[in-house]
Amino acid sequence: MNTNAIGVFDSGLGGLSAVKQMLKAMPNENIIYFGDTGRVPYGNRSTDTIRRYAMQDANFLLKHNVKMVVAACGTVSSVAPDLEDVLGVPYTGVVLPTCFTALRESKNGKVGVIGTTATINSHSYKTRIEQKNPDFQVFEQDCPLFVPLVENGIIDHNDRIVQLVVEKYLSPLKNAGVDTVILGCTHYPILKEAIGDYMGDDVLLIDSGKETALYTKKVLEENCLSNTCKDNGTAQFFVSDTPDNFEKIASLFLSKDMQGKVSQINIEEY
Ligand code: DGL
Repeated sequence: MNTNAIGVFDSGLGGLSAVKQMLKAMPNENIIYFGDTGRVPYGNRSTDTIRRYAMQDANFLLKHNVKMVVAACGTVSSVAPDLEDVLGVPYTGVVLPTCFTALRESKNGKVGVIGTTATINSHSYKTRIEQKNPDFQVFEQDCPLFVPLVENGIIDHNDRIVQLVVEKYLSPLKNAGVDTVILGCTHYPILKEAIGDYMGDDVLLIDSGKETALYTKKVLEENCLSNTCKDNGTAQFFVSDTPDNFEKIASLFLSKDMQGKVSQINIEEY
């Protein structure tokens, strides 16, 4: 057994979609979360910049002796899949676990992938799915306005702005007849209700945060790193800009009071 924390990072709030599911699936594990709110969004930056940021984020977590690093970020997982080679602890991104689920669950083999511009340009999800099953057709769409909506707390499915943006990005996928949509950016599950309203009940939405949380549990078990202690674990949250906004939206999304529970760090030191 290993009581060290699992280290989770994202450019901002998105990785909380993985944390929410980790708290459910592994309530006894300790978690350290870093949201790079001072540099969000990652998804429209260059590969070099995203890789440099990801390395700093992982280094911050490693300084806390985490037993595993989770890039709860579709963008990092897509443009820096080799991060694993330099960390020295087990690592996962979100792409692989999410692709497995799409391959298993889609009935008609038509899968939509939505993600940041960097993720879609990398074709990370499409390549993996089509490699595993060449009969699958993958339709990709970047949704650059989704992350700013989430980071600004504009997430209500009844909000007209949210509905219009969802329709703008998802209409090509609806027209293509997909039966499954991968929410390939971890910010997007926060807009799941709005996306579900538009796509309809017959379309399965795959939450990259959830699939990654379940995969993390499996990796820990396989490596004999699970925390088998009966008590509930602790979760610590760090950001690279003022915590106020993060605390407000995280409280809503995690359904727990996060006021005063988030600390600011200087990520440039890592
Ligand atoms: N949540 C991230 C992702 O999964 C990053 C979004 C961004 O910073 O652009 O892609």
